[in-house]
Amino acid sequence: MPEGTPTQATVVIEQGRRLSESLIWALQRGFYARAGLAAWKPKAVPFYITSNAFTARAYARTVAGFLRDLVAAGRIDRAAPLYLVELAAGSGQFAYLFLRRLAEIQEQVPALGGLDLRYVMTDFAESNVEAWQIHERLAPFRDSGRLDFALFDLERDHELRLRGAGVTLSAGSAANPIVLLANYAFDSTTQDAFQVTDGVLQERLARVLSTQAEPDLDDPDLLQRIQVRYDLAPVGATRYDDPRLLSLLEGYRRDYREASFLLPVGAFRCLRTFESISSGRLLLLTGDKAVTRDDEIEHAKDPTFYVHAGGAFSFLANLHALSRYFEEAGGTALNVDRRDQRLKVAALTTAFPDVAWDETRLAFRRSQEDFGPADYHALVFGLRQHNATVPLQSILAQIRLGCWDYELVFSWREQLVKLAPEAPAWQQADLAEALERVWEEYYPIQRDLAFELARIFVVLKRPEQALRFGHESVRTHGPHYLTYLSMGYSCVLLGREAEAVSWIDRSLELKPDNAAATSLRASLLKRLGGGA
Ligand SMILES: C[S@@+](CC[C@H](N)C(=O)[O-])C[C@H]1O[C@@H](n2cnc3c(N)ncnc32)[C@H](O)[C@@H]1O
Repeated sequence: MPEGTPTQATVVIEQGRRLSESLIWALQRGFYARAGLAAWKPKAVPFYITSNAFTARAYARTVAGFLRDLVAAGRIDRAAPLYLVELAAGSGQFAYLFLRRLAEIQEQVPALGGLDLRYVMTDFAESNVEAWQIHERLAPFRDSGRLDFALFDLERDHELRLRGAGVTLSAGSAANPIVLLANYAFDSTTQDAFQVTDGVLQERLARVLSTQAEPDLDDPDLLQRIQVRYDLAPVGATRYDDPRLLSLLEGYRRDYREASFLLPVGAFRCLRTFESISSGRLLLLTGDKAVTRDDEIEHAKDPTFYVHAGGAFSFLANLHALSRYFEEAGGTALNVDRRDQRLKVAALTTAFPDVAWDETRLAFRRSQEDFGPADYHALVFGLRQHNATVPLQSILAQIRLGCWDYELVFSWREQLVKLAPEAPAWQQADLAEALERVWEEYYPIQRDLAFELARIFVVLKRPEQALRFGHESVRTHGPHYLTYLSMGYSCVLLGREAEAVSWIDRSLELKPDNAAATSLRASLLKRLGGGA
Protein backbone atom coordinates (compact mmCIF):
# COMPACT_ATOMS: atom_id res chain seq x y z
CA MET A 1 0.00 0.00 0.00
CA PRO A 2 1.31 3.43 -0.83
CA GLU A 3 2.50 5.61 2.03
CA GLY A 4 2.24 9.34 1.63
CA THR A 5 3.39 10.32 5.12
CA PRO A 6 5.11 13.68 5.15
CA THR A 7 8.64 13.73 6.54
CA GLN A 8 9.03 17.19 8.07
CA ALA A 9 6.08 17.51 10.44
CA THR A 10 7.19 19.57 13.46
CA VAL A 11 4.19 21.74 14.42
CA VAL A 12 2.19 20.14 17.25
CA ILE A 13 -1.52 20.44 16.49
CA GLU A 14 -2.80 18.08 19.18
CA GLN A 15 -1.32 16.27 22.16
CA GLY A 16 -2.23 14.33 25.29
CA ARG A 17 -5.32 12.71 23.71
CA ARG A 18 -6.16 9.05 23.77
CA LEU A 19 -5.57 7.77 20.26
CA SER A 20 -9.25 6.86 19.84
CA GLU A 21 -10.17 10.47 20.72
CA SER A 22 -7.68 12.09 18.40
CA LEU A 23 -8.77 14.47 15.65
CA ILE A 24 -7.46 12.00 13.04
CA TRP A 25 -10.67 9.95 13.19
CA ALA A 26 -12.88 12.88 12.30
CA LEU A 27 -10.66 13.46 9.28
CA GLN A 28 -11.00 9.80 8.30
CA ARG A 29 -14.77 9.84 8.64
CA GLY A 30 -14.95 13.05 6.67
CA PHE A 31 -12.88 11.50 3.88
CA TYR A 32 -15.11 8.44 3.46
CA ALA A 33 -18.34 10.37 3.84
CA ARG A 34 -17.24 12.78 1.10
CA ALA A 35 -15.52 10.30 -1.20
CA GLY A 36 -18.35 7.76 -1.55
CA LEU A 37 -17.81 5.83 -4.77
CA ALA A 38 -14.81 7.96 -5.76
CA ALA A 39 -12.85 6.08 -3.08
CA TRP A 40 -12.80 3.01 -5.38
CA LYS A 41 -10.92 4.56 -8.27
CA PRO A 42 -7.65 2.89 -9.22
CA LYS A 43 -4.84 4.35 -7.07
CA ALA A 44 -7.25 5.60 -4.37
CA VAL A 45 -8.25 3.43 -1.39
CA PRO A 46 -6.78 -0.08 -1.85
CA PHE A 47 -9.55 -2.65 -2.24
CA TYR A 48 -8.45 -5.21 -4.82
CA ILE A 49 -6.80 -7.66 -2.43
CA THR A 50 -9.88 -7.90 -0.17
CA SER A 51 -12.49 -7.78 -2.88
CA ASN A 52 -11.31 -9.97 -5.75
CA ALA A 53 -12.99 -13.18 -6.86
CA PHE A 54 -10.40 -15.45 -5.24
CA THR A 55 -10.83 -13.77 -1.85
CA ALA A 56 -14.62 -13.88 -2.09
CA ARG A 57 -14.54 -17.62 -2.90
CA ALA A 58 -12.18 -18.26 0.03
CA TYR A 59 -14.57 -16.45 2.38
CA ALA A 60 -17.66 -18.20 0.96
CA ARG A 61 -16.02 -21.59 1.50
CA THR A 62 -15.12 -20.71 5.08
CA VAL A 63 -18.64 -19.48 5.81
CA ALA A 64 -20.05 -22.65 4.24
CA GLY A 65 -17.89 -24.67 6.65
CA PHE A 66 -19.33 -22.71 9.58
CA LEU A 67 -22.91 -23.23 8.35
CA ARG A 68 -22.33 -26.96 7.87
CA ASP A 69 -21.10 -27.24 11.44
CA LEU A 70 -24.16 -25.39 12.72
CA VAL A 71 -26.50 -27.54 10.64
CA ALA A 72 -24.80 -30.72 11.87
CA ALA A 73 -25.24 -29.54 15.47
CA GLY A 74 -28.90 -28.64 14.87
CA ARG A 75 -28.23 -24.99 15.70
CA ILE A 76 -30.07 -23.33 12.83
CA ASP A 77 -33.77 -22.57 12.87
CA ARG A 78 -34.69 -23.23 9.23
CA ALA A 79 -37.90 -21.25 9.55
CA ALA A 80 -35.99 -18.05 10.31
CA PRO A 81 -33.49 -16.00 8.33
CA LEU A 82 -29.80 -16.31 9.00
CA TYR A 83 -28.10 -12.95 8.49
CA LEU A 84 -24.67 -12.44 7.01
CA VAL A 85 -23.75 -8.83 7.66
CA GLU A 86 -20.89 -7.18 5.84
CA LEU A 87 -19.45 -4.19 7.69
CA ALA A 88 -17.93 -1.27 5.80
CA ALA A 89 -18.77 -2.95 2.49
CA GLY A 90 -17.25 -0.13 0.44
CA SER A 91 -17.33 -0.76 -3.29
CA GLY A 92 -19.74 -3.72 -3.05
CA GLN A 93 -17.57 -5.93 -5.23
CA PHE A 94 -16.81 -8.40 -2.44
CA ALA A 95 -20.52 -8.82 -1.67
CA TYR A 96 -21.40 -9.57 -5.28
CA LEU A 97 -18.69 -12.18 -5.73
CA PHE A 98 -19.28 -13.73 -2.30
CA LEU A 99 -23.01 -14.05 -2.99
CA ARG A 100 -22.37 -15.83 -6.29
CA ARG A 101 -20.08 -18.36 -4.66
CA LEU A 102 -22.34 -18.91 -1.68
CA ALA A 103 -25.35 -19.50 -3.95
CA GLU A 104 -23.32 -22.08 -5.89
CA ILE A 105 -22.28 -23.85 -2.69
CA GLN A 106 -25.86 -23.84 -1.41
CA GLU A 107 -26.96 -25.57 -4.61
CA GLN A 108 -24.24 -28.19 -4.33
CA VAL A 109 -24.42 -28.99 -0.62
CA PRO A 110 -27.79 -30.51 0.32
CA ALA A 111 -27.34 -29.74 4.03
CA LEU A 112 -27.30 -26.02 3.19
CA GLY A 113 -30.18 -26.15 0.70
CA GLY A 114 -33.26 -24.32 1.91
CA LEU A 115 -31.45 -22.20 4.50
CA ASP A 116 -32.88 -18.69 4.40
CA LEU A 117 -29.57 -16.83 4.06
CA ARG A 118 -29.85 -13.03 3.92
CA TYR A 119 -26.82 -10.95 3.15
CA VAL A 120 -26.83 -7.38 4.44
CA MET A 121 -24.41 -4.86 2.99
CA THR A 122 -23.64 -2.00 5.36
CA ASP A 123 -21.52 1.12 5.41
CA PHE A 124 -21.75 4.48 7.12
CA ALA A 125 -21.52 6.38 3.83
CA GLU A 126 -25.01 6.92 2.42
CA SER A 127 -23.63 7.30 -1.11
CA ASN A 128 -22.21 3.75 -0.99
CA VAL A 129 -25.53 2.30 0.21
CA GLU A 130 -27.48 4.15 -2.46
CA ALA A 131 -25.14 2.96 -5.18
CA TRP A 132 -25.55 -0.70 -4.16
CA GLN A 133 -29.34 -0.39 -4.05
CA ILE A 134 -29.43 0.39 -7.76
CA HIS A 135 -26.42 -1.61 -8.96
CA GLU A 136 -27.56 -3.84 -11.83
CA ARG A 137 -25.30 -6.75 -10.86
CA LEU A 138 -26.74 -6.82 -7.34
CA ALA A 139 -30.36 -6.53 -8.53
CA PRO A 140 -31.10 -10.30 -8.87
CA PHE A 141 -29.95 -10.91 -5.29
CA ARG A 142 -31.87 -7.87 -4.06
CA ASP A 143 -35.05 -8.82 -5.91
CA SER A 144 -35.05 -12.38 -4.58
CA GLY A 145 -34.73 -11.11 -1.00
CA ARG A 146 -31.30 -12.65 -0.50
CA LEU A 147 -29.64 -9.23 -0.31
CA ASP A 148 -30.52 -6.25 1.82
CA PHE A 149 -28.88 -2.94 2.67
CA ALA A 150 -28.43 -0.85 5.78
CA LEU A 151 -26.75 2.38 6.72
CA PHE A 152 -24.67 1.34 9.70
CA ASP A 153 -21.92 3.10 11.57
CA LEU A 154 -20.00 0.25 13.11
CA GLU A 155 -18.59 2.40 15.90
CA ARG A 156 -21.77 4.17 16.91
CA ASP A 157 -24.93 2.33 15.91
CA HIS A 158 -26.56 -0.41 17.94
CA GLU A 159 -29.17 -1.59 15.48
CA LEU A 160 -29.61 -1.91 11.72
CA ARG A 161 -32.68 -1.05 9.70
CA LEU A 162 -32.83 -3.28 6.63
CA ARG A 163 -34.01 -1.11 3.77
CA GLY A 164 -35.55 -3.90 1.69
CA ALA A 165 -37.32 -5.97 4.32
CA GLY A 166 -38.15 -2.97 6.52
CA VAL A 167 -37.01 -5.05 9.52
CA THR A 168 -34.77 -3.72 12.30
CA LEU A 169 -32.08 -5.94 13.75
CA SER A 170 -31.76 -4.99 17.40
CA ALA A 171 -30.79 -6.61 20.70
CA GLY A 172 -31.95 -10.23 20.83
CA SER A 173 -33.86 -10.03 17.53
CA ALA A 174 -31.93 -12.61 15.49
CA ALA A 175 -33.34 -16.13 15.74
CA ASN A 176 -30.16 -17.58 14.24
CA PRO A 177 -26.43 -17.01 14.68
CA ILE A 178 -24.98 -14.13 12.67
CA VAL A 179 -22.01 -14.14 10.29
CA LEU A 180 -20.11 -10.86 10.35
CA LEU A 181 -17.78 -10.07 7.46
CA ALA A 182 -15.32 -7.21 7.80
CA ASN A 183 -12.53 -6.39 5.39
CA TYR A 184 -10.20 -3.46 5.89
CA ALA A 185 -12.74 -2.22 8.43
CA PHE A 186 -10.99 -2.66 11.77
CA ASP A 187 -7.68 -1.17 10.60
CA SER A 188 -9.52 2.02 9.61
CA THR A 189 -11.70 2.59 12.67
CA THR A 190 -10.82 3.80 16.17
CA GLN A 191 -7.92 2.34 18.12
CA ASP A 192 -6.25 3.01 21.47
CA ALA A 193 -2.50 2.49 21.82
CA PHE A 194 -0.56 0.92 24.68
CA GLN A 195 2.95 0.00 25.66
CA VAL A 196 4.32 -2.55 28.13
CA THR A 197 7.83 -1.97 29.45
CA ASP A 198 9.30 -4.27 32.11
CA GLY A 199 5.84 -5.42 33.07
CA VAL A 200 4.43 -1.87 33.40
CA LEU A 201 1.46 -1.01 31.21
CA GLN A 202 1.19 2.54 29.89
CA GLU A 203 -1.06 4.26 27.40
CA ARG A 204 0.40 5.92 24.33
CA LEU A 205 -1.33 9.28 24.05
CA ALA A 206 -1.37 10.77 20.59
CA ARG A 207 0.75 13.77 19.65
CA VAL A 208 -0.24 14.90 16.16
CA LEU A 209 2.26 16.97 14.20
CA SER A 210 1.85 18.81 10.96
CA THR A 211 4.21 20.38 8.46
CA GLN A 212 2.56 23.78 9.09
CA ALA A 213 0.32 25.67 11.51
CA GLU A 214 -3.26 24.42 11.07
CA PRO A 215 -5.91 27.03 11.77
CA ASP A 216 -8.57 24.76 10.18
CA LEU A 217 -8.57 21.32 11.78
CA ASP A 218 -11.34 20.17 9.43
CA ASP A 219 -9.23 20.75 6.34
CA PRO A 220 -9.64 17.58 4.21
CA ASP A 221 -5.99 17.80 3.09
CA LEU A 222 -4.68 17.80 6.64
CA LEU A 223 -4.11 14.04 6.64
CA GLN A 224 -1.51 14.42 3.93
CA ARG A 225 0.56 16.68 6.19
CA ILE A 226 0.46 14.96 9.56
CA GLN A 227 2.45 12.44 11.54
CA VAL A 228 1.37 10.75 14.77
CA ARG A 229 3.80 10.41 17.67
CA TYR A 230 3.12 9.26 21.23
CA ASP A 231 3.68 10.25 24.85
CA LEU A 232 3.37 7.67 27.61
CA ALA A 233 0.85 8.02 30.45
CA PRO A 234 -0.28 5.74 33.31
CA VAL A 235 -3.32 3.50 32.82
CA GLY A 236 -5.94 3.50 35.57
CA ALA A 237 -7.71 0.33 36.76
CA THR A 238 -10.98 1.60 35.29
CA ARG A 239 -9.58 2.59 31.93
CA TYR A 240 -12.52 0.87 30.19
CA ASP A 241 -15.99 0.21 31.50
CA ASP A 242 -15.98 -3.18 29.74
CA PRO A 243 -14.40 -5.88 31.95
CA ARG A 244 -13.41 -7.87 28.83
CA LEU A 245 -11.23 -5.01 27.61
CA LEU A 246 -9.71 -4.59 31.07
CA SER A 247 -8.91 -8.28 31.05
CA LEU A 248 -7.28 -7.96 27.62
CA LEU A 249 -5.09 -5.12 28.87
CA GLU A 250 -4.15 -7.12 31.94
CA GLY A 251 -3.29 -10.10 29.70
CA TYR A 252 -0.84 -8.03 27.69
CA ARG A 253 0.73 -6.65 30.88
CA ARG A 254 1.02 -10.12 32.36
CA ASP A 255 2.26 -11.99 29.28
CA TYR A 256 4.79 -9.60 27.74
CA ARG A 257 7.90 -7.97 29.14
CA GLU A 258 7.90 -5.53 26.28
CA ALA A 259 5.00 -4.91 23.93
CA SER A 260 3.54 -2.23 21.72
CA PHE A 261 -0.05 -2.86 20.69
CA LEU A 262 -3.29 -1.24 19.62
CA LEU A 263 -6.76 -2.06 20.88
CA PRO A 264 -9.37 -1.71 18.13
CA VAL A 265 -11.98 -0.13 20.38
CA GLY A 266 -14.26 0.73 17.45
CA ALA A 267 -14.29 -2.94 16.48
CA PHE A 268 -15.04 -4.03 20.05
CA ARG A 269 -17.99 -1.66 20.23
CA CYS A 270 -19.33 -3.19 17.03
CA LEU A 271 -18.79 -6.73 18.29
CA ARG A 272 -20.76 -5.98 21.44
CA THR A 273 -23.63 -4.76 19.25
CA PHE A 274 -23.69 -7.97 17.23
CA GLU A 275 -23.18 -10.19 20.27
CA SER A 276 -26.29 -8.54 21.60
CA ILE A 277 -28.33 -8.84 18.36
CA SER A 278 -27.34 -12.52 17.94
CA SER A 279 -27.61 -13.41 21.63
CA GLY A 280 -23.92 -14.24 21.68
CA ARG A 281 -23.82 -16.46 18.54
CA LEU A 282 -21.39 -14.98 16.10
CA LEU A 283 -18.81 -15.81 13.49
CA LEU A 284 -16.54 -12.91 12.60
CA LEU A 285 -14.60 -13.43 9.39
CA THR A 286 -12.26 -10.53 9.04
CA GLY A 287 -9.33 -9.58 6.84
CA ASP A 288 -6.95 -6.73 7.50
CA LYS A 289 -3.43 -5.52 7.31
CA ALA A 290 -2.76 -6.98 10.69
CA VAL A 291 -0.60 -8.36 13.45
CA THR A 292 -1.29 -11.85 14.72
CA ARG A 293 2.03 -13.04 16.13
CA ASP A 294 3.90 -12.43 19.38
CA ASP A 295 6.97 -11.21 17.51
CA GLU A 296 4.84 -8.49 15.86
CA ILE A 297 3.95 -7.12 19.28
CA GLU A 298 7.08 -7.66 21.38
CA HIS A 299 8.82 -4.38 20.63
CA ALA A 300 8.65 -0.72 21.63
CA LYS A 301 8.04 0.79 18.20
CA ASP A 302 5.28 3.30 17.43
CA PRO A 303 2.22 1.82 15.69
CA THR A 304 2.55 2.10 11.92
CA PHE A 305 0.31 4.81 10.51
CA TYR A 306 -0.33 4.52 6.77
CA VAL A 307 -1.74 7.45 4.84
CA HIS A 308 -3.09 6.22 1.50
CA ALA A 309 -2.83 8.13 -1.72
CA GLY A 310 -6.58 8.67 -1.92
CA GLY A 311 -6.76 10.47 1.46
CA ALA A 312 -7.70 7.80 4.00
CA PHE A 313 -5.39 6.19 6.54
CA SER A 314 -5.07 2.90 8.37
CA PHE A 315 -3.14 1.21 11.15
CA LEU A 316 -2.25 -2.46 11.41
CA ALA A 317 -5.30 -4.13 12.94
CA ASN A 318 -4.60 -6.13 16.07
CA LEU A 319 -6.09 -9.52 15.16
CA HIS A 320 -4.03 -10.89 18.03
CA ALA A 321 -6.20 -8.91 20.48
CA LEU A 322 -9.43 -9.72 18.62
CA SER A 323 -8.54 -13.42 18.81
CA ARG A 324 -7.85 -13.15 22.54
CA TYR A 325 -11.17 -11.33 23.01
CA PHE A 326 -13.07 -14.28 21.52
CA GLU A 327 -10.96 -16.98 23.15
CA GLU A 328 -11.16 -15.49 26.63
CA ALA A 329 -14.94 -15.74 26.39
CA GLY A 330 -14.78 -19.42 25.41
CA GLY A 331 -14.80 -18.88 21.64
CA THR A 332 -12.51 -20.15 18.91
CA ALA A 333 -9.92 -18.24 16.89
CA LEU A 334 -8.55 -19.46 13.57
CA ASN A 335 -5.63 -17.46 12.24
CA VAL A 336 -3.17 -17.65 9.39
CA ASP A 337 0.26 -17.75 10.99
CA ARG A 338 2.21 -15.63 8.52
CA ARG A 339 4.52 -12.64 8.79
CA ASP A 340 3.25 -11.03 5.59
CA GLN A 341 1.03 -8.29 7.03
CA ARG A 342 -0.72 -7.08 3.85
CA LEU A 343 -3.81 -9.19 4.43
CA LYS A 344 -4.36 -11.60 7.26
CA VAL A 345 -7.71 -13.32 7.58
CA ALA A 346 -9.12 -14.63 10.84
CA ALA A 347 -12.27 -16.64 11.61
CA LEU A 348 -13.42 -15.95 15.16
CA THR A 349 -16.43 -17.52 16.80
CA THR A 350 -18.13 -16.86 20.09
CA ALA A 351 -18.69 -19.83 22.41
CA PHE A 352 -21.11 -22.39 20.93
CA PRO A 353 -21.29 -25.22 23.45
CA ASP A 354 -21.30 -28.66 21.80
CA VAL A 355 -20.50 -27.47 18.28
CA ALA A 356 -17.39 -29.09 16.80
CA TRP A 357 -15.83 -26.79 14.26
CA ASP A 358 -14.52 -29.60 12.01
CA GLU A 359 -15.89 -28.22 8.74
CA THR A 360 -14.98 -24.66 9.63
CA ARG A 361 -11.40 -25.66 10.44
CA LEU A 362 -11.09 -27.71 7.28
CA ALA A 363 -12.47 -24.94 5.10
CA PHE A 364 -10.30 -22.32 6.80
CA ARG A 365 -7.24 -24.47 6.34
CA ARG A 366 -7.91 -25.08 2.65
CA SER A 367 -9.05 -21.63 1.65
CA GLN A 368 -7.00 -19.39 3.94
CA GLU A 369 -3.94 -21.19 5.29
CA ASP A 370 -2.75 -23.55 2.52
CA PHE A 371 -3.01 -20.87 -0.14
CA GLY A 372 -5.01 -17.80 0.75
CA PRO A 373 -5.92 -14.36 -0.59
CA ALA A 374 -2.50 -12.84 0.22
CA ASP A 375 -0.77 -15.72 -1.61
CA TYR A 376 -3.01 -15.28 -4.61
CA HIS A 377 -2.31 -11.57 -4.73
CA ALA A 378 1.45 -12.10 -4.43
CA LEU A 379 1.41 -14.73 -7.16
CA VAL A 380 -0.61 -12.95 -9.82
CA PHE A 381 0.96 -9.53 -9.27
CA GLY A 382 4.43 -11.06 -9.11
CA LEU A 383 3.88 -12.85 -12.41
CA ARG A 384 2.51 -9.75 -14.01
CA GLN A 385 5.43 -7.60 -12.96
CA HIS A 386 8.25 -10.02 -13.61
CA ASN A 387 7.27 -12.13 -16.57
CA ALA A 388 5.69 -10.49 -19.57
CA THR A 389 5.98 -13.59 -21.73
CA VAL A 390 3.95 -16.29 -20.01
CA PRO A 391 2.21 -18.71 -22.38
CA LEU A 392 -1.53 -18.59 -22.95
CA GLN A 393 -2.16 -21.74 -20.90
CA SER A 394 -0.54 -20.09 -17.87
CA ILE A 395 -2.77 -17.05 -18.22
CA LEU A 396 -5.80 -19.34 -18.46
CA ALA A 397 -4.60 -21.26 -15.41
CA GLN A 398 -4.36 -18.00 -13.45
CA ILE A 399 -7.86 -16.99 -14.54
CA ARG A 400 -9.22 -20.31 -13.26
CA LEU A 401 -7.20 -20.11 -10.04
CA GLY A 402 -8.56 -16.60 -9.56
CA CYS A 403 -12.17 -17.75 -10.02
CA TRP A 404 -12.54 -15.69 -13.23
CA ASP A 405 -10.93 -12.62 -11.71
CA TYR A 406 -11.35 -9.79 -14.24
CA GLU A 407 -8.17 -8.10 -13.07
CA LEU A 408 -6.22 -10.82 -14.85
CA VAL A 409 -7.71 -9.76 -18.17
CA PHE A 410 -6.52 -6.20 -17.54
CA SER A 411 -3.14 -7.50 -16.39
CA TRP A 412 -2.59 -9.69 -19.44
CA ARG A 413 -4.58 -7.84 -22.08
CA GLU A 414 -1.66 -7.17 -24.43
CA GLN A 415 -0.42 -10.76 -24.12
CA LEU A 416 -3.92 -12.06 -24.77
CA VAL A 417 -4.31 -9.95 -27.91
CA LYS A 418 -0.91 -11.17 -29.08
CA LEU A 419 -1.24 -14.87 -28.24
CA ALA A 420 -4.90 -15.53 -28.97
CA PRO A 421 -4.74 -15.44 -32.80
CA GLU A 422 -1.90 -17.99 -32.88
CA ALA A 423 -3.43 -20.42 -30.39
CA PRO A 424 -4.83 -23.79 -31.55
CA ALA A 425 -8.59 -23.89 -32.04
CA TRP A 426 -9.25 -25.85 -28.83
CA GLN A 427 -7.35 -23.31 -26.78
CA GLN A 428 -9.13 -20.41 -28.47
CA ALA A 429 -12.40 -22.09 -27.52
CA ASP A 430 -11.23 -22.45 -23.90
CA LEU A 431 -10.18 -18.81 -23.86
CA ALA A 432 -13.50 -17.64 -25.32
CA GLU A 433 -15.38 -19.60 -22.66
CA ALA A 434 -13.14 -18.28 -19.90
CA LEU A 435 -13.69 -14.68 -21.02
CA GLU A 436 -17.47 -15.15 -20.95
CA ARG A 437 -17.14 -16.46 -17.38
CA VAL A 438 -14.98 -13.47 -16.46
CA TRP A 439 -17.74 -11.21 -17.75
CA GLU A 440 -20.41 -12.99 -15.71
CA GLU A 441 -18.36 -12.47 -12.56
CA TYR A 442 -17.52 -8.86 -13.33
CA TYR A 443 -18.70 -6.14 -10.94
CA PRO A 444 -18.22 -2.88 -12.81
CA ILE A 445 -16.93 -0.07 -10.68
CA GLN A 446 -14.70 2.21 -12.66
CA ARG A 447 -13.14 0.24 -15.48
CA ASP A 448 -14.21 -0.82 -18.96
CA LEU A 449 -13.80 -4.59 -19.15
CA ALA A 450 -16.22 -4.85 -22.08
CA PHE A 451 -13.83 -2.80 -24.22
CA GLU A 452 -10.94 -5.21 -23.49
CA LEU A 453 -13.12 -8.24 -24.19
CA ALA A 454 -14.26 -6.76 -27.51
CA ARG A 455 -10.62 -6.34 -28.56
CA ILE A 456 -9.74 -9.92 -27.66
CA PHE A 457 -12.84 -11.36 -29.35
CA VAL A 458 -11.94 -9.49 -32.54
CA VAL A 459 -8.52 -11.18 -32.72
CA LEU A 460 -10.16 -14.50 -31.81
CA LYS A 461 -12.34 -13.93 -34.89
CA ARG A 462 -15.53 -14.22 -32.86
CA PRO A 463 -17.32 -11.16 -34.21
CA GLU A 464 -20.73 -11.67 -32.57
CA GLN A 465 -19.13 -11.65 -29.15
CA ALA A 466 -16.85 -8.75 -30.07
CA LEU A 467 -19.83 -6.71 -31.26
CA ARG A 468 -21.86 -7.53 -28.16
CA PHE A 469 -19.05 -6.30 -25.90
CA GLY A 470 -18.52 -3.26 -28.12
CA HIS A 471 -22.16 -2.26 -27.60
CA GLU A 472 -21.78 -2.90 -23.86
CA SER A 473 -18.70 -0.69 -23.71
CA VAL A 474 -20.53 2.17 -25.45
CA ARG A 475 -23.55 1.71 -23.15
CA THR A 476 -21.53 1.83 -19.95
CA HIS A 477 -18.51 3.99 -20.81
CA GLY A 478 -19.63 6.03 -23.79
CA PRO A 479 -18.18 6.22 -27.30
CA HIS A 480 -14.49 5.75 -28.00
CA TYR A 481 -12.85 5.68 -31.41
CA LEU A 482 -11.21 2.31 -30.70
CA THR A 483 -14.51 0.76 -29.60
CA TYR A 484 -16.15 1.89 -32.83
CA LEU A 485 -13.18 0.62 -34.79
CA SER A 486 -13.38 -2.83 -33.20
CA MET A 487 -17.12 -2.84 -33.95
CA GLY A 488 -16.22 -2.01 -37.56
CA TYR A 489 -13.76 -4.95 -37.71
CA SER A 490 -16.42 -7.22 -36.20
CA CYS A 491 -18.88 -6.27 -38.93
CA VAL A 492 -16.22 -6.94 -41.59
CA LEU A 493 -15.74 -10.43 -40.12
CA LEU A 494 -19.51 -10.91 -40.22
CA GLY A 495 -19.61 -9.82 -43.88
CA ARG A 496 -21.78 -6.78 -42.96
CA GLU A 497 -19.62 -4.31 -44.82
CA ALA A 498 -22.01 -1.38 -45.07
CA GLU A 499 -22.55 -1.51 -41.32
CA ALA A 500 -18.77 -1.75 -40.87
CA VAL A 501 -18.37 1.52 -42.77
CA SER A 502 -20.86 3.25 -40.51
CA TRP A 503 -18.95 2.19 -37.35
CA ILE A 504 -15.69 3.32 -38.94
CA ASP A 505 -17.25 6.67 -39.81
CA ARG A 506 -18.15 7.10 -36.17
CA SER A 507 -14.62 6.17 -35.19
CA LEU A 508 -13.19 8.73 -37.60
CA GLU A 509 -15.53 11.41 -36.28
CA LEU A 510 -13.88 10.94 -32.89
CA LYS A 511 -10.35 10.61 -34.28
CA PRO A 512 -10.07 11.80 -37.87
CA ASP A 513 -6.32 11.13 -38.21
CA ASN A 514 -6.50 7.37 -37.62
CA ALA A 515 -4.66 5.83 -40.59
CA ALA A 516 -5.85 2.25 -39.94
CA ALA A 517 -9.49 3.36 -39.89
CA THR A 518 -9.08 5.51 -43.00
CA SER A 519 -7.52 2.73 -45.06
CA LEU A 520 -10.02 0.10 -43.88
CA ARG A 521 -12.83 2.46 -44.83
CA ALA A 522 -11.34 3.05 -48.28
CA SER A 523 -10.96 -0.65 -49.03
CA LEU A 524 -14.47 -1.38 -47.80
CA LEU A 525 -15.97 1.35 -49.97
CA LYS A 526 -14.06 0.02 -52.92
CA ARG A 527 -15.48 -3.44 -52.32
CA LEU A 528 -18.93 -1.97 -51.91
CA GLY A 529 -18.39 -0.19 -55.20
CA GLY A 530 -18.74 3.30 -53.79
CA GLY A 531 -15.21 4.70 -54.15
CA ALA A 532 -13.20 6.34 -51.31
C1 LIG B 1 -10.81 0.71 3.67
S1 LIG B 1 -12.46 0.70 3.15
C2 LIG B 1 -12.86 -1.01 3.12
C3 LIG B 1 -13.96 -1.32 2.17
C4 LIG B 1 -14.15 -2.77 1.83
N1 LIG B 1 -14.52 -3.56 2.96
C5 LIG B 1 -12.90 -3.32 1.15
O1 LIG B 1 -12.29 -4.22 1.66
O2 LIG B 1 -12.58 -2.82 0.08
C6 LIG B 1 -13.27 1.35 4.43
C7 LIG B 1 -14.79 1.44 4.32
O3 LIG B 1 -15.24 1.63 5.63
C8 LIG B 1 -16.28 2.55 5.64
N2 LIG B 1 -16.29 3.09 7.01
C9 LIG B 1 -15.36 3.89 7.58
N3 LIG B 1 -15.71 4.13 8.86
C10 LIG B 1 -16.86 3.45 9.09
C11 LIG B 1 -17.70 3.29 10.20
N4 LIG B 1 -17.44 3.89 11.35
N5 LIG B 1 -18.79 2.51 10.09
C12 LIG B 1 -19.08 1.90 8.93
N6 LIG B 1 -18.33 2.02 7.81
C13 LIG B 1 -17.23 2.79 7.91
C14 LIG B 1 -15.96 3.53 4.56
O4 LIG B 1 -17.09 4.24 4.10
C15 LIG B 1 -15.38 2.59 3.52
O5 LIG B 1 -16.39 2.11 2.68
